[in-house]
Amino acid sequence: MVTGAAGFIGSVVTERLIEAGHQVVAFDSLKYGHRAAVHPEAIWVQGDLRDDHAVRTALEQNQVEAVMHLAAEAYIDLAATDPGMFFDVNTSGGHILLAAMRDLRINKIVNSSTAACYGEPKKLPIQEDDPKHPVNAYGESKLQFEQQVKWHHLSHGLKHISLRYFNACGASKTRGEARDRETHIIPILLDVAIGKRPQFHLFGADYDTPDGTCIRDYVHVVDIADAHILALSKLDEIGERAYNLGCNEGFSNREVVQAVREVTGHEIPVVIGNRRPGDPARLVASNERAKSELGWKPSFTNLAEMIETTWVWRSAHPNGYA
Ligand SMILES: NC(=O)c1ccc[n+]([C@@H]2O[C@H](COP(=O)([O-])OP(=O)(O)OC[C@H]3O[C@@H](n4cnc5c(N)ncnc54)[C@H](O)[C@@H]3O)[C@@H](O)[C@H]2O)c1
Repeated sequence: MVTGAAGFIGSVVTERLIEAGHQVVAFDSLKYGHRAAVHPEAIWVQGDLRDDHAVRTALEQNQVEAVMHLAAEAYIDLAATDPGMFFDVNTSGGHILLAAMRDLRINKIVNSSTAACYGEPKKLPIQEDDPKHPVNAYGESKLQFEQQVKWHHLSHGLKHISLRYFNACGASKTRGEARDRETHIIPILLDVAIGKRPQFHLFGADYDTPDGTCIRDYVHVVDIADAHILALSKLDEIGERAYNLGCNEGFSNREVVQAVREVTGHEIPVVIGNRRPGDPARLVASNERAKSELGWKPSFTNLAEMIETTWVWRSAHPNGYA
């Protein structure tokens, strides 16, 4: 079962699982996701993670063997004003899922975690065992879920892999990023390119980086989906572990803007504004552990190529899944 299967990453995970021959139960509340994003061969269940009955029924009736958990509250910008929403879904909803899995003796989970668990890193690239001091309720709630899973592993042998990543980007041939309220840099830039926004607002150009703008890690959504599938295949062997899905080197916001200009041919007017509170200058994760232990090798490393896949999808779906 894939939770969050109607969301950006969950829909591509579902697609790749089905292409790899798995049967998939797609579980999502549709708070943010889109029914049309769910692969037609998946067994569709509309349900809320916090609804114990709905979760148990979906797992039991479909004889689920493993869970890929992507359902989450992930709008980080809301974390300062409504922290409880993140703990309600990501931590308590996660508890409901784990309790149901324990009772039904489903002992495999691949968890979509986040590099927000680390907070502001003391050194780069971030490694999995580095200190974790989240700086927002999103990161804290996702870290709390990882901690719950660890105790389920110790108490009754739940097999668990958490994949921590920063900026998922790109699109598969049929599924892409389509949010009603967008906060991610690449889709916002493409909104400018297709005329939905007049300009791009850059948060700060006075950081201690070569071009003054923040540097972030970008990983293609298909590579993320494939890491989930690799993790599933290695769960029996590995037992319990966390992996960063990073690119070792990041791209600055100005580099992202420039790459979007090259891909779209649009000038993309930029307005430089103030820094956002809590935005570290650089966030880049090491992927050495995922490479050596999972055998994960991202197929996309070139930023323009990643953006190109989003551009192709957005050009074909200017109104998303509407
Ligand atoms: N997008 C990124 O760059 C990124 C980076 C790191 C980690 N992640 C993690 O990846 C996962 C997927 O992120 P995404 O970008 O696809 O987000 P998304 O919002 O597109 O997908 C999340 C899905 O979860 C569903 N959902 C939310 N609350 C639910 C609930 N209570 N019950 C059932 N379903 C619920 C939403 O409807 C949505 O379809 C999340 O766990 C997120 O924390 C994302």
